[in-house]
Amino acid sequence: MKKKVTKIGVLTSGGDAPGMNACVRAVVRTGIYYGLEVYGIVRGYTGMVENDIYKMESGSVANIIQRGGTILKTSRCKEFFTPEGRKKAYDNLIKLGINGLVIIGGDGSFRGAQTFSNEYDIPCVGLPGTIDKDIAGTDFTIGFDTAVNTAVEAIDKIRDTADAHDRLFIIEVMGRDAGYIALHSGIATGAQNVLIPERKTDIEEVIKQLEEKERRHKLVNLIVVAEGDEFGGADEIAKIIKARLPIQDVRVCILGHIQRGGSPTCFDRLIASRMGYSAVECLMEGKFNVFVGMVNNRMHFTPLNEAVKKKQRISEEWIKIVKILAS
Ligand code: F6P
Repeated sequence: MKKKVTKIGVLTSGGDAPGMNACVRAVVRTGIYYGLEVYGIVRGYTGMVENDIYKMESGSVANIIQRGGTILKTSRCKEFFTPEGRKKAYDNLIKLGINGLVIIGGDGSFRGAQTFSNEYDIPCVGLPGTIDKDIAGTDFTIGFDTAVNTAVEAIDKIRDTADAHDRLFIIEVMGRDAGYIALHSGIATGAQNVLIPERKTDIEEVIKQLEEKERRHKLVNLIVVAEGDEFGGADEIAKIIKARLPIQDVRVCILGHIQRGGSPTCFDRLIASRMGYSAVECLMEGKFNVFVGMVNNRMHFTPLNEAVKKKQRISEEWIKIVKILAS
């Protein structure tokens, strides 16, 4: 028989993502609703290793649903990826009687949870919190929608100045080795081209398109590049275009970490709340060592050991849409 979970710990790990706070709030309040004690673990796995853990009440998560970042703080903890680090973490949890964990983070955080739950009898439930949307087993990750909307707002502003000067802007967005932020924000801002790691960048094709636009005296263009594009990012693309098409007045804008901050969108708050609630239900029902995603708007559970980085080909149709709509 599976052990009953009575005291749970919650942590945020890896790159922060807007909506993590809404998710922590949902975990804490659902846990308390079901009569569990809930503990906040500070700075992700680092707090587990260093015993930086505190008891949370309903009031601990008041007034945070709208806030970006994470009140629990986050880190990428190297020590937890050593057996000694995990032993320290386990001892600290046992001292407090914590017998269930909710981990909000990306695939690296899930791998840590998987190893930990294999070694020790503490069930873990993962929740996908990353702006990159690069985890298989869920249609959306907490933070992606906000990051895309932040990128869209910024690119719209860039378009105003690009238009005023007849300029070509190469805009680099985040996403690590995934191109979802680039693809979504590129389509939503009417970009001329979107360059992503999932598809080989054909620089000759990019140049041909721009030459064709030059012939039509259209010099205002936006190209959105994912930071993980194998070609080397916005600076590299700009260098080549400047050399090949001297008529183009090229500027580069790297959006960077502004994509990680800010108040979460309604969508991110909603999925964060649903996922947080569902994680506690999993622990109550003995659905252990899974991560909770959302597929077709329904909760979807994937064993932690199958939680992998999404490395799938992006639909060619989406690329076709970019091309047709930008002509
Ligand atoms: O994984 C989220 C993310 O923001 C990526 O898009 C980006 O590549 C990376 O984190 C940046 O990490 P850091 O916080 O170390 O700058």
